[in-house]
Amino acid sequence: MHEPKLPPNLLFGTATAAYQVEGAADEGGRGPSIWDTYCRTPGRVARGESGDVACDHYHRYREDVALLADLGVDLYRFSVSWPRVQPDGKGRPNAEGLAFYDRLVDAVLEAGIEPALTLYHWDLPQTLEDEGGWRVRDTARRFGEYTRIVAERLGDRVNRWITLNEPFCSAFVGHAVGRHAPGTREGTPALAAAHHLLLAHGTAVGELRAAGAGEVGITLNPDHLLPATGSEADRAAVERARTLHNRTWFDPLFTGAYPDNEKETWGELADGSYRREGDLEVIGRPLDFLGVNFYRPIMLRDAPHTQPDPALRTAADIGTEQVAFDGVRHTTMGWPVVPESFEELLVDLDRRYPGLPPILITENGSAEADEPDGDGRVHDGDRVAYLRAHLAALGRAIEAGVDVRGYFVWSLLDNFEWAYGYERRFGLVRVDYDSLERHPKDSYHWYRDYLASHRARRNQGE
Ligand code: FCB
Repeated sequence: MHEPKLPPNLLFGTATAAYQVEGAADEGGRGPSIWDTYCRTPGRVARGESGDVACDHYHRYREDVALLADLGVDLYRFSVSWPRVQPDGKGRPNAEGLAFYDRLVDAVLEAGIEPALTLYHWDLPQTLEDEGGWRVRDTARRFGEYTRIVAERLGDRVNRWITLNEPFCSAFVGHAVGRHAPGTREGTPALAAAHHLLLAHGTAVGELRAAGAGEVGITLNPDHLLPATGSEADRAAVERARTLHNRTWFDPLFTGAYPDNEKETWGELADGSYRREGDLEVIGRPLDFLGVNFYRPIMLRDAPHTQPDPALRTAADIGTEQVAFDGVRHTTMGWPVVPESFEELLVDLDRRYPGLPPILITENGSAEADEPDGDGRVHDGDRVAYLRAHLAALGRAIEAGVDVRGYFVWSLLDNFEWAYGYERRFGLVRVDYDSLERHPKDSYHWYRDYLASHRARRNQGE
């Protein structure tokens, strides 16, 4: 099989996130996060599952780092749990929590792997949520304090920092769609949450720079949005969705302005009451890289608003409706597999935002049915095909001039897939949730071979 050849200096890794893998929810002085609360609320997460135990990575991280070493990755992306470091989201740090990340970072470095640390992958301390959470400005200030604590402790060994993971999901899936914690369906407060997340990001960038951090960036999940037809109405629907999904983040981060079509998108909900003078300067602080997570494209058509009264709408109710992709394979997430859209998205972003910093693909991967066969092995050929096709698409984007420096597979391990619980498996390594044993899948072996030949080309200076 012909494998895509990517530039030899491209870095490779895998990614995980604290709440999805760590478990040990009540250990080491960790406080509750909004995801603990959400999981305990009946009807929210499939089968009532939670991250209480997850992959027990908190205790088994050495085994997981050994898997990474054997895989031969350059980088390992993980996240720090804010409520492990500050159980209430404020005040003196919890020594046990910091000590865990200390050990993890040391183990990763000892394995010859570079850590890429995400400060926020959705687990807001519940105490802060009780005080308004991302809807209130003070949470951005608190995030700056938390960032300073982590940077002071780990900054001597961690060079690469990601402030937020997918603030689109935190703001809108969390506060407008209601399918992520905190699980509410709001209008203006969801837009305020988006703004405060951006402000938190900029505040954290300031703290990281002051601490002398090497490479600083943010991870976004820009969507490749396609109109169902060429009609005026469907195109306008896509432009509204582009603002909801992409421009809300990209415009202030990379052009120093808020999107100019907020009123068309949200009407009076976008009243800007949550913005202050000077915020754009903080938000737009220069970055060393942009993290992009990509899984699948979205096709949309114009549709009536769910709520007829504009004042009562959620921020996700923008008069659009998703349309299914015909004739392509879908993963067990129900996501269409359209690798070309990965290339198209990257080229499109590059053209729209000429000032973008270099890109790291901080997540890409697929959830598959993954049944172990008689020999206990998982022959996940569909995942291998997905990764291969997306790497080829990435290669074409790079050839077209997009500056991409790294690529991370989501995920090293099967893990807690948010509202879907443990049924949706994204790992290169299967986790048996009864025994917590790890079993590398075929995709793990494929990635290992792929990385070995990539490194060989790098060493030959090809
Ligand atoms: C992304 C999340 C990550 C994981 C993948 C499948 O949106 O950042 O935690 O759940 O989707």
